[in-house]
Amino acid sequence: MRDIKDLKVLIDRDSLNKRIIELALEINNFYGTEKPLTLICILRGAVMFYTELAKHLKMPVKMEFVTLSSYGNSEKSSGKIKAVNLAIPDLENQNALIVEDIIDTGLTLDFLLKFIKTNCKVRDVKLVVLFNKKCARKFDIEPDFAAFDVDDKFIVGFGLDYNGFYRNLDYVGYFNL
Ligand code: IMP
Ligand code: MG
Repeated sequence: MRDIKDLKVLIDRDSLNKRIIELALEINNFYGTEKPLTLICILRGAVMFYTELAKHLKMPVKMEFVTLSSYGNSEKSSGKIKAVNLAIPDLENQNALIVEDIIDTGLTLDFLLKFIKTNCKVRDVKLVVLFNKKCARKFDIEPDFAAFDVDDKFIVGFGLDYNGFYRNLDYVGYFNL
């Protein structure tokens, strides 16, 4: 367990909220307000971003959830998808938008995207992330929408965890080692 006193603020609450509203506007402009959109939240990291983003979308929205994890209790990707609860909702003929906290190596989203495209008869599926850690990418995948680019440092807060903790913070920070 690290000491929260060593946590430095990277993005404060107001900046997060402001940028999420801007991103929602971008998504509204892209999809329009008429056609329904199914938002798929990747639990548990995306939960804060997901609820904030959803509040600002103007089209008819369905809210669905899946559980995926690749990290275990470390700061480096394990390279394997773990603890999969793939009770994927019915997405037949729907436009879906996967909502994730952060894309790092790309393993998680590459896996889910392929799974959905192969199994769900979805009309269209896109990706939105709160954070894009571009420099860590190992899979050939890019988000369609991203709020912030981040360096290859381990961040916590606003859904992102370290050993299961810090998800509840209303800002995003990093540990000064
Ligand atoms: P990927 O599969 O390597 O792209 O990793 C994505 C998952 O790793 C995310 O859903 C997060 O749960 C976790 N992750 C990656 N980077 C960080 C970080 O800086 N802080 C907390 N979790 C992270
Ligand atoms: Mg996650």
